[in-house]
Amino acid sequence: MATLSVSHLSKHFRIYKKEAGFMGSVHSFFKRTYETSKAVDDISFSIEQGELVGFIGPNGAGKTTTLKCLSGLIYPTSGEIQVLGHTPFDRNYDYLRSISLVMGQKSQLWWDLPPMESYLLYKEMYEIPNDHFKKMLDELVELLDLKDVLAVQVRKLSLGQRMKCELVAQLLHSPKILFLDEPTIGLDIVMQQKIRSFVREYNKKYNATILLTSHYMDDVKELCKRIIIINHGRILYDGSLDTVVSKHTQLKRISVVFERPIERSELEKQGKLVSIEGQNATLEVSKDKIAAVAGYILSHYPVIDLTIEEPQIEEIISGIFSSSTV
Ligand SMILES: Nc1ncnc2c1ncn2[C@@H]1O[C@H](COP(=O)(O)OP(=O)(O)OP(=O)(O)O)[C@@H](O)[C@H]1O
Ligand SMILES: [Mg+2]
Repeated sequence: MATLSVSHLSKHFRIYKKEAGFMGSVHSFFKRTYETSKAVDDISFSIEQGELVGFIGPNGAGKTTTLKCLSGLIYPTSGEIQVLGHTPFDRNYDYLRSISLVMGQKSQLWWDLPPMESYLLYKEMYEIPNDHFKKMLDELVELLDLKDVLAVQVRKLSLGQRMKCELVAQLLHSPKILFLDEPTIGLDIVMQQKIRSFVREYNKKYNATILLTSHYMDDVKELCKRIIIINHGRILYDGSLDTVVSKHTQLKRISVVFERPIERSELEKQGKLVSIEGQNATLEVSKDKIAAVAGYILSHYPVIDLTIEEPQIEEIISGIFSSSTV
């Protein structure tokens, strides 16, 4: 049986709708009208132990709502969730001890306390044995290079330092399942990279199951073989990242630096000419012709440099978001 399974999960919110203008406000005061927002609308998927899955979609797609249902913070409108044999919204103590939800947008540390004091509170809450606590803390502090900030009030930490401290807090009880909601948001490239390698390490070392949301495709590219794409509360794709990328990669680009300028009309015979300037030219070519075109150019013209560019995953994914088909 899968470690985590979601079956026909829906979460609908009832939102109060105010009519426009002053009379509208008066009217709405006496007769409230509501609209239903289908934040999550009949989704099903399952995840095996040790998998690291990217959960991606545009703003408002339903990612955070799904993660909140999975961690038992909110009650679904309908559907079933089973994680490690538990139903999350029972908020069974054993269940809470085996999961963690890390939200990049929301601090779960006490703002006025230094991280170390929050950690000690978590230790009591989760009844983490002394030796285990010490071992985990040492390891995490070392890995994330946090020695110097443990005694500084959280409000005085930089965003990146705080994010790393947040991760430590959520990992001290060694959860087998991690829900990471935009763990790298707002961080600089170096820090994003650090968090990423840390997530990869944690996944490997503890064979932890991880569901990760991020708007940074680098996170997804580097960490996740499998992705689930969600939009308007519905799943558009669930499968390997490579498959979806290659399926949507019809065109590649060949950029060439020639020894001397080449006639535009010559190059246009080889593919769609995207740009030409002096000795530099870029052509767009369908992927099945790429080898033939590159070969032709190399054998017919004096070439200094030739590169074949893959389309950016960002472009492919945003194309999928907007077309709503995969
Ligand atoms: N408590 C709430 N009450 C009413 N509507 C809500 C509530 N929480 C979320 N929603 C709505 O549900 C939809 C999904 O929101 P959710 O936060 O799950 O999106 P998301 O995929 O996490 O987006 P983002 O990438 O911006 O974080 C949105 O339309 C949002 O406005
Ligand atoms: Mg969100």
